[in-house]
Amino acid sequence: MSVLRSDSHAARTRLTLYARGVQQTRARAASQTKFLLEESQLPRRWYNIRSDMPTAPQPVLHPGTGQPVGPDDLAPLFPMELIGQEVSEEAEIAIPEEVLEIYRLWRPTPLYRASRLEAAIGTRSRIFYKYEGVSPPGSHKPNTAVAQAFYNKQEGRTRLSTETGAGQWGSALAFACKLIGLECKVYMVRVSYEQKPFRRSLIEAWAAEVVSSPSEDTQCGRAIREEHPDSPGSLGIAISEAVEDAAGRDDTAYSLGSVLNHVLLHQTVIGQEALAQMELAGAFPDVVIGCVGGGSNFAGLAFPFMREKIAGREIDVLACEPAACPTLTRGLFAYDFGDTSKLTPLVPMHTLGHDFVPAPIHAGGLRYHGVAPLISQLVRDGLIRAEAYLQNDVFASAVLFAGSEGILPAPEAAHAIHGTLQVAKAADEAGEERTILFNLSGHGHFDMAAYDNYFAGKLEDVALDEDEMSRALHAIEGLPSPA
Ligand SMILES: Cc1ncc(COP(=O)(O)O)c(C=O)c1O
Repeated sequence: MSVLRSDSHAARTRLTLYARGVQQTRARAASQTKFLLEESQLPRRWYNIRSDMPTAPQPVLHPGTGQPVGPDDLAPLFPMELIGQEVSEEAEIAIPEEVLEIYRLWRPTPLYRASRLEAAIGTRSRIFYKYEGVSPPGSHKPNTAVAQAFYNKQEGRTRLSTETGAGQWGSALAFACKLIGLECKVYMVRVSYEQKPFRRSLIEAWAAEVVSSPSEDTQCGRAIREEHPDSPGSLGIAISEAVEDAAGRDDTAYSLGSVLNHVLLHQTVIGQEALAQMELAGAFPDVVIGCVGGGSNFAGLAFPFMREKIAGREIDVLACEPAACPTLTRGLFAYDFGDTSKLTPLVPMHTLGHDFVPAPIHAGGLRYHGVAPLISQLVRDGLIRAEAYLQNDVFASAVLFAGSEGILPAPEAAHAIHGTLQVAKAADEAGEERTILFNLSGHGHFDMAAYDNYFAGKLEDVALDEDEMSRALHAIEGLPSPA
């Protein structure tokens, strides 16, 4: 009896000590600002959501035959390893050691508890953010740029061509090519080329060539300039130029900074790290939020959490986009070209039509007519929801964030901040308390002209006009319909 009694006493003591330990860890976590991982905790595999999706994504089609494209169709543009990753059903894909070695320059990235922002808005909710702006180019984009440059070099390509909207992707690819030893040519959307001269300088500092798109260097660029001399450019146009460049040269492959399955795959290091960091914080998000251009930073954070959601955990996953380019909230789910000049295969995605040129808002990286097929399918299946915001509201949230957390966000990332503030506000009004995690995909240090315009009251609020949307959607009439 006495032994039993002392056993149960010991067990009770152990339990009490354990509970106290957990409480102390939680208390420490509650007052902690940054949750950091060691370099040794860098994820060693990318997570492929295709293996868990309730509805398989529909195939990409050859526009000539209407049949699914095969590896041979894509081989002129991409290395075989990336073509394999594009269609892989494997749940996890190993990250090459050479890529991990470069990731270690800035990864793992920090996860922050935004206590000051919480205090500034007086919310009962807890807000966390993953900060990707610590990479050398200042955003999440090098997570895939390094991987793409690595596989291209491994398969013998010596030069890459690409487009860039905000300049973030162009500088990320220039950085990756410089470190890995490839030449790089960047077609930069004209409006960003003019708004962000220092992004251009950064691209040149990493030894890449950068031209304003539409340019004189390609057939499609020249055709668009002739028809629309004042065209502000768009991602769709710049993609056409970069694809034409790569298709015309054996030494050159094309590299895309978003949309494609393999690009989203490479970004999943973000969410995998965040899962471990939320555990360090003793919390799990009720809401996961990201901004969406083509969808890569959003997927990077959200997909590892979606794995939990698909397995039965309740998580609200919110995609934030500009009202000037409301692809997920108002676009059609349809087969469409990824570029303006119809050089790419047909992709099943939410789209506003391939010749749609969004208004020149300052979040240049969100001015794309389509969205990644993986995200489009998950929206269609009701697993992701989307909201669209006006740019003055987004900049007001960005300035509020900078004033409390200190970091000046990229205008793209500011959409996720604005979404977070909307969710926190709605929770407060409903008397609820949420744990919110969002992706701060980049800093805004090269976007000061946009902030200047905002402070001067010169930013125009543009919500896509219904007539313009119907006009743009005519472009997809006659293309195959998804099942
Ligand atoms: C900082 C930042 N966030 C987000 C985006 C949008 O791209 P994606 O939707 O692929 O993450 C961009 C694109 O340039 C960007 O520069």
